[in-house]
Amino acid sequence: MNKKLRVVVTHRIPGSGISLLRKAGFHVVFGKNFKGAHAILSQLTDRIDGKVLDRAGRQLKIVANYAVGFDNIDIKDAGSRGVVVTNTPGVLTEAVAEHTIALMLALARRVVEADAFTRAKKYHGWKPDLFLSGTLVNKTLGILGLGRIGKAVAMRCHLGFGMNVLYHDSKRDEIFEAEYRARFESTDYILRHADVVSLHVPSLPGTRHLINGAAFKKMKKTAYLINTARGPVVDERALVQALRKKQIAGASLDVFEFEPKLAPGLEKLSNVVLTPHIASGTQACREEMSRLAAKNIIAVLRGRKPLTPVN
Ligand code: GLV
Ligand code: GLV
Repeated sequence: MNKKLRVVVTHRIPGSGISLLRKAGFHVVFGKNFKGAHAILSQLTDRIDGKVLDRAGRQLKIVANYAVGFDNIDIKDAGSRGVVVTNTPGVLTEAVAEHTIALMLALARRVVEADAFTRAKKYHGWKPDLFLSGTLVNKTLGILGLGRIGKAVAMRCHLGFGMNVLYHDSKRDEIFEAEYRARFESTDYILRHADVVSLHVPSLPGTRHLINGAAFKKMKKTAYLINTARGPVVDERALVQALRKKQIAGASLDVFEFEPKLAPGLEKLSNVVLTPHIASGTQACREEMSRLAAKNIIAVLRGRKPLTPVN
């Protein structure tokens, strides 16, 4: 009977989850032909709203997003149609935290600029003032959004670099505070005092342009901004202005407001590090995401509770 259940996977993903789905006896098809789908395995580049859900039909039970973020899915439309939405939290936390720290270090130690300089054969001998840079040790880290990823970044920065951690979130975590000597502060306070501001909030109407022109004015001139969350959290045009005017010292971005496009002028700046939305992109992590999305689909299509629902 399972044989008839149709799972539409919008794009190719690492195979481990696909194998699970096939072993479970589902008919797995790739593409965007959602009609008759019982489950959709979507990616963050797929906009899933009421129109898409209606196109699939009333037999649709679940949309399993291959991402921890789910701003590409209209949760209200899914809820009103009784469709479960799941994401892939947990399995990508460490990978994203590592990439966040890689971006911090690359920026603070000018790794990308120095690499380009060296490749261009401009290195003509050691000098005391060549590529003088900032550092992370003993600096103040401001985490906006203390979810799993925010915590994983804060913990590593505190234990690894002796950074003082300030954070803001919709709720306090006093156990975390005690363990990592972290301090809960307002976003405003964090912007004014942090040497590194790292964003770990979801993309919501309320977090859109959380970092805007006014925020850059509050930040230290020596501060770095790191975004591995979602592009729209930063007003990217205002960021280009702030970097040009040296209102802040630099920014590292893995996500972009108008992804995959960059705000005009961003790529011309030397005090930015840019990566193409790859923070969770380790082989192991992408396989885990694939398996977790598949397990959510199997659970729901077999009438069980999803493992990681968001609605
Ligand atoms: C990637 O951006 C994700 O949300 O998993
Ligand atoms: C979500 O972004 C998380 O922190 O797991």
